[in-house]
Amino acid sequence: MKKKYMLMALLALTLSLFAGCGAITPETNPESSEEYGKADDSITVGFSQLGAESDWRSANTDSMLSALSEDNGYSLIYKNGQQKQANQITAIRTFIQQEVDYIVLAPATESGWETVLAEAREAGIPVILVDRRVNTSDKNLYSCWVGSDFELEGQKMAAWIKAFTEEKGIAAQDLHIVNIQGSEGSTAQIGRTRGLANAARDNGWDLRAEISGDFTENRGREVMAALLKRFDDINVVYCENDNMAIGAIDAIESAGKKVGSNIQKGEIMIVSFDGVNETALEYAREGKISCIAECNPLHGPRVSTLIRAIENGAPYQKFNYVDEKLFSAELSVKEVSVGDTTYPVDNDF
Ligand code: AHR
Repeated sequence: MKKKYMLMALLALTLSLFAGCGAITPETNPESSEEYGKADDSITVGFSQLGAESDWRSANTDSMLSALSEDNGYSLIYKNGQQKQANQITAIRTFIQQEVDYIVLAPATESGWETVLAEAREAGIPVILVDRRVNTSDKNLYSCWVGSDFELEGQKMAAWIKAFTEEKGIAAQDLHIVNIQGSEGSTAQIGRTRGLANAARDNGWDLRAEISGDFTENRGREVMAALLKRFDDINVVYCENDNMAIGAIDAIESAGKKVGSNIQKGEIMIVSFDGVNETALEYAREGKISCIAECNPLHGPRVSTLIRAIENGAPYQKFNYVDEKLFSAELSVKEVSVGDTTYPVDNDF
């Protein structure tokens, strides 16, 4: 990087001017950040992760840290935003002060990024978005994005619910659905909620409630317990991630009810998103979770490829979607259609 070489030259000059006046050490703040690797010719990346709310998030962080490693030619400054956008904004400002070569942002919510991203642009630092998106009116405030099509995930799940219940001969108006949503205002929540809400309207399903469980197991448990007290006819629970599904299942079983796809016999059908947590996948194999829409967290190598493309002046796509499928042990649905496209259902996972 040109800027890096300029900085190195400046540093060398400073060192020669102040030789013998004491050691110069890099500034670090062990309280809030971790630096991974400091190879001299490496690319410095500041990565603002939004938090550690779910198993998906942990897998995503691991993927990012291992792809942007010293061995791969990076000096990574990693900051965990602890679910707070304010922390992420502070992290980005710190990265700008540190004159990193790239900023990678996994944003907690879609709104509220205009000012800080304009500051990054002003400083000439490319920003790569990963996982969720930002809704800035100026899309040139970031270089590119890589992640999931969250609305498509919701549409695929709704298509699975429709295909499965029609095959069982269950009337649309007999589906009483609650949606335990992800963190409000996040792209994952907005897309998955929209996918279900539109399908409920189009198919005449009874969508009883939409309440946020913040993507965590504990909130999933609490929200489900409250919903069971409020409604006595819930037969489908659409959980916007697996961690909340695990909490919801616990609440349902603690209330003496049974989870499963046999809703004509009084079971409560659970569907969820991610397919990362091993317990959730095991529940899906046992039929406690009837269907999981995959959300792929392994974005580290994809982000690295984008950085290398920018570095080399090679062409790259602005929006980069990953392919995902459905997991279900129910053999009756082999594929689902959304629009003109069919998507496979993996019955053997
Ligand atoms: O943005 C991706 C979502 O965030 C995952 O589905 C969820 O588990 C995570 O918290």
